[in-house]
Amino acid sequence: MSALVRISDDALALACGADAVAAAFEAAGAKVERVSSWGMHWLEPLVDMNGIGWGPVGPDDVRAILDGGLDDKCIGPIAAHSFIAGQQRFTFARAGKTRPLSLDDYAASGGWEGLRKAREIGPEATVEAVTRSGLRGRGGAGFPAGIKWRTVAQAAGEAKYIVCNADEGDSGTFSDRMVMEGDPFMLIEGMAVAAHAVGAERGYVYIRSEYPHAIRKMQAAISASADLVAPFEIEVRVGAGAYVCGEETSLLNSLEGKRGEVRAKPPLPAIEGLFGKPTVVNNVLTLAAVPWIMANGADAYAAVGFGRSKGTMPIQIAGNVRHGGLFEVGFGITLGELVNEIGGGTASGRPVRAVQVGGPLGAYHPPSDFGLPFDYEAFAAADGLIGHAGIVVFDDSVDMAAQARFAMEFCAAESCGKCTPCRLGAVRGMEVIDRIRAGAGRELETLERMPQMHNMPKQGRDTADEIALLTDLCETMKFGSLCALGGFTPYPVMSALKHWPEDFGAK
Ligand SMILES: Cc1cc2nc3c(=O)[nH]c(=O)nc-3n(C[C@H](O)[C@H](O)[C@H](O)COP(=O)(O)O)c2cc1C
Ligand code: SF4
Repeated sequence: MSALVRISDDALALACGADAVAAAFEAAGAKVERVSSWGMHWLEPLVDMNGIGWGPVGPDDVRAILDGGLDDKCIGPIAAHSFIAGQQRFTFARAGKTRPLSLDDYAASGGWEGLRKAREIGPEATVEAVTRSGLRGRGGAGFPAGIKWRTVAQAAGEAKYIVCNADEGDSGTFSDRMVMEGDPFMLIEGMAVAAHAVGAERGYVYIRSEYPHAIRKMQAAISASADLVAPFEIEVRVGAGAYVCGEETSLLNSLEGKRGEVRAKPPLPAIEGLFGKPTVVNNVLTLAAVPWIMANGADAYAAVGFGRSKGTMPIQIAGNVRHGGLFEVGFGITLGELVNEIGGGTASGRPVRAVQVGGPLGAYHPPSDFGLPFDYEAFAAADGLIGHAGIVVFDDSVDMAAQARFAMEFCAAESCGKCTPCRLGAVRGMEVIDRIRAGAGRELETLERMPQMHNMPKQGRDTADEIALLTDLCETMKFGSLCALGGFTPYPVMSALKHWPEDFGAK
């Protein structure tokens, strides 16, 4: 009998050469199943033969694996590997095990059970279960999903919509992509439960154009499961690549074919959302958590977590780190455990200097913050945020003033332009940081790209004056911006200044 090997067809595995490895196994007479990724990115392409793993594998390794060798790349039983055994996988329970587009695999691993339960108990009890589970939005703001669903359920309107936010623009994040590429029926089931709960007949998945594999998988999964979720209908819409289109009202404008400009709130999308109708906008992870909650019970979900942060969080470890990947665990794990124990420290082997948590608008944390538990409130109290749970690690070669400058540059590039503190503030922010850096004796490599900028040192102003100006500007952006793009850009800037003043030439 020929050997059966499992190899992921996730975009990251493909980028690491998984197709060539799969072809080499087939050429050697093995049967190959393409499955989702376990999320141990540093080991991709990871080969699973009878539960034993090898990675990272190249085509030349295939013969040795089939002959029972290649010990130096063998990690033993995959499920027992410390990176996997240390996790509590609710959302990613099927990761590495099932074929993403196999309805048989999905049903055999508990799929559709949540939808069946929701239909059995009815819309009101479904909203009640999601509320009781304590599930909070995983897109960044952490708003309770049950309360949002209740608002839409109770809103008057002949048409209501479910919009799945799959724009996933945060740096170092990939969990939405892994759900869509690895377990698309779970997301469809979550959307169908939401539709049943609020009375919606149509849903949209808004996916960033940079995710071609996810787009194809979602489209195929939607067609394959159409009968199972009917009369609910789902359509994929592809974004054109603007970070701000992940902001829910900007996303709705984009879905309607308009410019991706942020809308003032109120009205909330739950009352006047897509095409002016009551709309649930939820992140991929929020909706993907719902089938587990419905199938296993709200109380089982709420029993896991920390404080008001209930359930598990698929944390994405990236940047300069030895063991990058997807680590799903109950809230409450500390930042230090994630970076040093699970992530294994920096890939460069140099000391960790900073960790940015929560995407480009998240604060930079020094190692002295490593005792922080992963929890919405704890990070907010430390002037940070957990956002979509992406953590990006930097070693001691990072220039934190340059990172602060990058935050302002990112905001300037991605601003929708609707409000002044963000549209103009970000450009002024780049200029003042350039002046500070010039004062600190650094090269201004980005100067020529912005010839209109006032970034030359000003007569009579020293670094302390410029830092005071930057602080004042950040206050204005924080409190005067219409949305979190302008409002949160001060987090990376001010945290860099607070923890690494020496990089700004501050005394
Ligand atoms: C600039 C900006 C970008 C955002 N990008 C995303 C994103 O890529 N994905 C996402 O789910 N939420 C994003 N959000 C948050 C959404 O506005 C919204 O809170 C979320 O989609 C609601 O779903 P949730 O309650 O399930 O988190 C972004 C917000 C801002 C201000
Ligand atoms: S803060 Fe920036 S992105 Fe948000 S509405 Fe204002 S200009 Fe647009």
